[in-house]
Amino acid sequence: MENNIFIFSDPHFGHKNIVRSVSSWDDKSGCRDFNSIEEMNETIVKNINSTVSENDFLFCLGDWSFGGQANISKYRNMINVKEISLIPGNHDDKLVSLIRTDPLVRSSFVLCRDITIFKCHGCIFVLSHMPVRDDIVDKLLSGRNIDNTPIILINGHLHGSKYPDNGFKRYFRVDASIETNNYLPYNILDIIKLYNESEYI
Ligand SMILES: [Fe+2]
Repeated sequence: MENNIFIFSDPHFGHKNIVRSVSSWDDKSGCRDFNSIEEMNETIVKNINSTVSENDFLFCLGDWSFGGQANISKYRNMINVKEISLIPGNHDDKLVSLIRTDPLVRSSFVLCRDITIFKCHGCIFVLSHMPVRDDIVDKLLSGRNIDNTPIILINGHLHGSKYPDNGFKRYFRVDASIETNNYLPYNILDIIKLYNESEYI
């Protein structure tokens, strides 16, 4: 797994309340500036398709869609990538059960562990929906032959809000929620660049 890996999180396809112009939330500070749900959905789909090629690896770190089963397949079918590896989010229970039971859904998503760890481009990546606390990461990585290998944690769920004050400072982290990258997936090479420019190196 060395080339063309892209990561994004929390597209929230079809989620009315996350779109500022139509949201009924009292606190709209976490809303996205689109004129309609359709505009948000189309922007995310278009951005992914213009960035990721059919055979690339694409990870979604959860919170795929809202609005039931129809939206799960609708937005998946609009994305021109053979496989999407899904790390489930707190809004993905229906999607996870469909991946397990429906052959059509299973053929277009690869269900990953809640915390997925792999090594590529000389770095160890820890992918999850929610940010994983430093001490849990310590436990997960203990016993592995790490030496001075860079460790990069990538999560979603935060939607650009800051990490909790305690327990999340010892590792380099990227919040890959799609609004943090102008509604584009992150290329893993760009994430490595961010690490190399960070205080963690
Ligand atoms: Fe989310």
